Amino acid sequence: MILAIANQKGGVGKTTTAINLAAALALRGRRTLLIDLDPQANSTLSYLDMGRVTRSVYDVVSDGICGLADIVQPCVVTNLFLAPARIGLAKLEAKLVGEIDAHFRLKDRLQPLLPSYDDVLIDCPPALGLLTVNALVAATHLLIPIQSSYFALEGTDDLLETVEKVRARANPGLQLIGVLITMHDRRTSLARDIRAQILNVFGAKVFRTVISKSVRLEESPAYKEPIFSFAPESTGASEYYRLCEEVIERA
Ligand SMILES: Nc1ncnc2c1ncn2[C@@H]1O[C@H](COP(=O)(O)OP(=O)(O)OP(=O)(O)O)[C@@H](O)[C@H]1O
Ligand SMILES: [Mg+2]
Repeated sequence: MILAIANQKGGVGKTTTAINLAAALALRGRRTLLIDLDPQANSTLSYLDMGRVTRSVYDVVSDGICGLADIVQPCVVTNLFLAPARIGLAKLEAKLVGEIDAHFRLKDRLQPLLPSYDDVLIDCPPALGLLTVNALVAATHLLIPIQSSYFALEGTDDLLETVEKVRARANPGLQLIGVLITMHDRRTSLARDIRAQILNVFGAKVFRTVISKSVRLEESPAYKEPIFSFAPESTGASEYYRLCEEVIERA
């Protein structure tokens, strides 16, 4: 499975989902590669010290001065490996203007590594630009996190339109594995209404597992740990563990 985690809306739980789902897969014994494709490097910072990152995905996809395997680093979690990002990734779009294979860079660089991993997860930036398109072209599956908030569904049309464009030519096999409701507060009727709305639009594509609002999930990256070791008894840990089961079922 090559799973892109994307939504051009900012702050909806892409990174939180990427780092914890990747850890859950790794804890189940699956060799997992997490690719940080966001110049903000939040996934990278959740597991590594920036001081240890000299080369990043940018160096791999911009001009190929190194291969993806050269930048991958092991994480605290056994079986989990990370291809780090740096702020320089923000320059990629400008760098690749006019390059015929601009949309295929990540897919091509990833190919030689596929035999070494059971799963690859890609944390996308909050935009529908070249980086996210590279992820969608490389991926077999797409997971869309949607924040349980009043404007939850705004922008999903544009995302789905981009997915259709990618499917039309570059990657016909790309599947929407599911829509994940995040930061849900089940005590409020607004949250229940929003969940009903999302179910209305995406039906069976919505994961049964809903991720609740949880301070523990916010805290764990600061300690460079996944939720499973940082707060193993928390709701966040059990919810991301259940999400992992559902993802494996659906893949
Ligand atoms: N279930 C949750 N409960 C509480 N806080 C959460 C939860 N999920 C994510 N957050 C917090 O919300 C903020 C945004 O989450 P996150 O970074 O995962 O979103 P993102 O979609 O990756 O953002 P960006 O678009 O900037 O990359 C972070 O501070 C994160 O810790
Ligand atoms: Mg993020």
